[in-house]
Amino acid sequence: MLIGRKADIAPSEITPRAVWLDRRRFLGAAGGLGAGLILGGEAGAAPLQAAASPLSTGEPKTPKEDVTSYNNFYEFGTGKSDPKANAGSLTTSPWSIRIDGLVNKPGDYALEDILKGVSLEERIYRMRCVEGWSMVIPWIGFPLSEIVRRAEPQGSARYLRFETLVRPAEMSGQRSILPILDWPYVEGLRMDEAMHPLTILATGLYGETLPNQNGAPVRLVVPWKYGFKGVKSIVRISFVEAEPRTSWMTQSPREYGFYANVNPAVDHPRWSQKTERRIGEGGIFVKRRETLPFNGYADQVAGLYSGMDLRTFF
Ligand code: MTE
Repeated sequence: MLIGRKADIAPSEITPRAVWLDRRRFLGAAGGLGAGLILGGEAGAAPLQAAASPLSTGEPKTPKEDVTSYNNFYEFGTGKSDPKANAGSLTTSPWSIRIDGLVNKPGDYALEDILKGVSLEERIYRMRCVEGWSMVIPWIGFPLSEIVRRAEPQGSARYLRFETLVRPAEMSGQRSILPILDWPYVEGLRMDEAMHPLTILATGLYGETLPNQNGAPVRLVVPWKYGFKGVKSIVRISFVEAEPRTSWMTQSPREYGFYANVNPAVDHPRWSQKTERRIGEGGIFVKRRETLPFNGYADQVAGLYSGMDLRTFF
């Protein structure tokens, strides 16, 4: 709780929240607003303007407190509470993303400029972690396809390779003497997965800018894949011809494949993937839910994998 910063009162504090949300929806739907960062109240949590999306789930949202305090972000340590405890040290502005590889428009792009050309939407997505838990998160973001189009990929670009920032001075896990992962954290998507309308780059959650522990200032969200595909604090997107080798494939190729589609029929070597525990739904005695193929997004995405044996391409 910050006190003594009256000059920074957020609109949410002076307007009843429902009215304010409605106005944001209206403004968002009117289009052309771009990122519209407005004055923030609490440090690191400025309100974001975003239109509601028909692609959102109507399921109850996981409490914000859980979404922002139970995290995986190994650059800040391997414990679930480490990211919230340690990520405050990360400077997220200015921020730029290098776009390179097989594109006609390579370059270092300021995030600010990228955001000027997109409209933010609120996307409430079910998220499923490979460790057996799930959440429902109201992300704010924009389709990754918008960046792909602007980069003008060449015909030979078949995959996207993402890198997270490497900055040991601000990322305590990268200073650890015990090896955690090879840095930078690397993830990848096939071009059609990257172009799919459900795939977004997120800059916020719960109506506010992304907290550092969730991947500020910009991270990937792919709701039909296990959570680890959601690479955080992205600084580089490379367009490449060959399937990228991701951090988790390097760490343990037997356990983690490139596709990582949520699939109750294919167990992780150490865990069954048939059921999941929804975070925030109560104690350990709460009934586990059945995990759905493609995390419940099969109607939209199963076609991307027709003809592929998903046991081989796990
Ligand atoms: N990105 C980076 N750079 N480093 C990480 O350790 N962890 C992944 C993914 N993105 C990770 C990352 C894993 S394992 C998960 S489950 C999700 O982030 C968690 O995202 P959340 O903390 O916002 O829920």
